[in-house]
Amino acid sequence: MEFKYLVVETDEEGIALLRLNRPEAKNALNLELIAELGDAADMLARDEKVRAVIVTGGEGDFAAGGDIKEMSGKYAPDMLVAYGADLSGFEKIERIPKPVIAAVNGYALGGGTELALVCDMIVASETAVFGMPEITLGIIPGAGGTQRLPRLIGPNRAKEFIFSGSFYDVEACREMGLVNKVVPAADLLEEAKKLARRCIRNGAVALACAKACVNEGLNTDLYSGLAYERKCFSLLFSTEDQKEGMAAFKEKRKAEFKGR
Ligand code: HXC
Repeated sequence: MEFKYLVVETDEEGIALLRLNRPEAKNALNLELIAELGDAADMLARDEKVRAVIVTGGEGDFAAGGDIKEMSGKYAPDMLVAYGADLSGFEKIERIPKPVIAAVNGYALGGGTELALVCDMIVASETAVFGMPEITLGIIPGAGGTQRLPRLIGPNRAKEFIFSGSFYDVEACREMGLVNKVVPAADLLEEAKKLARRCIRNGAVALACAKACVNEGLNTDLYSGLAYERKCFSLLFSTEDQKEGMAAFKEKRKAEFKGR
């Protein structure tokens, strides 16, 4: 699949790199780029060779947010109809049933922080800067920031983030639990790959179930989440990977999972 604003490559380990490529605008997320994110997410979700995904801006900025120039002349009906519907690219990334890691360099602002939040884990370089400056533009986060950020770092810290529109360095972000790991910029992609490898040495079906349980659980009450978990837990006993994993334990050898 050809993209205008994305570069997608999968290596021999099954780790796909989804790189935003609109450097002249600091990877600002226009409608076309967001639609491409959705198409890429569908493609990566379906591709059996892909075991994990890294979303990144590469050596440049992660993303400086929604495209302000594209949005500036719009009115509510435009936003409700076109923009509102087309933000599903973010949700498609979140729903890829495989580990998805954001590797963040430079600015991750507004929609950029929101894009990192739909990933399962965030690895950031020492120079990364996060923030939700929408309020300084007379708007609020519109791609999940008011919902996903409080679920991750708690409502009081999220409110400070969203109400002040301030920029935060990685140390502050690590302290508030926004990022999993901070690494030197030169090591960013390799560290993200290391984390991906630690996940994908495990079975793909169990990983998909684990992701679904955490994400579904965050959207429901405890007992509905526990019921969902119990079903997934039980269903995994019909997989070859469960038989292999437990046999390998008993035989004191390393399991060889097939994702079946
Ligand atoms: C459109 C953007 C942009 C954006 C940067 N650019 N951010 N264009 N939308 N969000 C463009 C600039 O206009 C400029 O183009 C070029 O990228 C380089 O940016 P500079 O501002 O010259 O760079 P610098 O001085 O280093 O400042 C970097 C920056 C600043 C701190 C990231 O650009 C900035 O504050 N950007 C806006 C951040 C923001 O408010 N994000 C929230 C957006 S609203 P030219 O052509 O002039 O050289 C949002 C809502 C989400 O995210 C909605 C759902 C997706």
